[in-house]
Amino acid sequence: DKGEHRHFMAKEIHEQPEVVGHTISAYLDPVARRVTLPEGGLDFGRIDKLTLSACGTAYYAGLIAKYWFETYAKLPVEADIASELRYRDVPYMPGGAALFVSQSGETADTLAALKDAKAAGQQTCAVVNVPESTMAREADAIYPTHAGPEIGVASTKAFTCQLATLACLAIGAGVARGVLSREEEERLVGALLEVPRHLAEALAMDEALRDLAHEMSGARDVLYLGRGVSFPLAMEGALKLKEISYIHAEGYAAGELKHGPIALIDEAVPVIVLAPKDALFEKTVSNMQEVMARGGKCCLISDEAGLAEAARGGELWGRVPVPSLPEGRLTGLLAPLIYAVPVQLLAYHAAVAKGTDVDQPRNLAKSVTVE
Ligand code: M6R
Repeated sequence: DKGEHRHFMAKEIHEQPEVVGHTISAYLDPVARRVTLPEGGLDFGRIDKLTLSACGTAYYAGLIAKYWFETYAKLPVEADIASELRYRDVPYMPGGAALFVSQSGETADTLAALKDAKAAGQQTCAVVNVPESTMAREADAIYPTHAGPEIGVASTKAFTCQLATLACLAIGAGVARGVLSREEEERLVGALLEVPRHLAEALAMDEALRDLAHEMSGARDVLYLGRGVSFPLAMEGALKLKEISYIHAEGYAAGELKHGPIALIDEAVPVIVLAPKDALFEKTVSNMQEVMARGGKCCLISDEAGLAEAARGGELWGRVPVPSLPEGRLTGLLAPLIYAVPVQLLAYHAAVAKGTDVDQPRNLAKSVTVE
């Protein structure tokens, strides 16, 4: 049932405050402001390396989590797409663990990579949305994402629930490894508890994004730029746009721009810039200004303060104000969850403008159970 929405995808985008709230409450104690990871899970205090793998959107969630595990738990992480990982000669070392992310829990490549890691003696765990899935059965430990059934082929709420779960795991790992103090844990948990509220605020942009997306729907190519945790989100934005609107899009690390893709810039290629007010904000904005100086049209996704600061560099084609987030280290934790919303809405409205089959895009299946 789509309720009041035209598509399952729209319904699922709008469900995010609620389902992310469910996910968070499975892993956090709101009163004590602590992470409460389930019994029988990974013992992060005893792991010296984490191998992280998945496909598509789930992989981008995993890539964002790599930054988090490094920052909050000082845990070395290697992340790769499952179709590559399974065919590499990975030298798995004793004391390592492998974490797999999957909405369906049935993706053939991810499942094969999980079985390989297990056979190689790694502890395995799966962040899955379907608790009775094959991956859930095969893994030594599971962390359910509580997004509820996702019908739209384009993953939206499953993605943010994966992020919410992985954020809790990274903080839990930081505590277990003695990297985070009690006060830091409290601050991070307190910030995560605010995520459903920020998501609801971000969803209020829905109408405003429609016009921008309509304009974008005429483009042949779109670039998405981001740094740090916003880099995987840029790739996720590009994936979302291409799979439902059939517009060619690429997500790039903003710093890579001058190593090639800047050659694509002209007034026909919209550039979506994801720039939360984190430590990398200035760097991303300066990359954006390089694009503008070459006649590129940029849409900046940031908070009001970020938009005001960037406005000094010239006329933006699009401005997307996202709720402002707490400063410093907390922005890096919250931004991927909150900035996912405008990224999803832009893709959704562009696809609606083009009249594509949003919930069932051509050539795609919800669950990819063959290689
Ligand atoms: O079920 P899984 O999370 O393992 O699926 C992985 C990908 O096939 C999936 O995320 C795909 O990229 C989505 N269609 C993206 O929206």
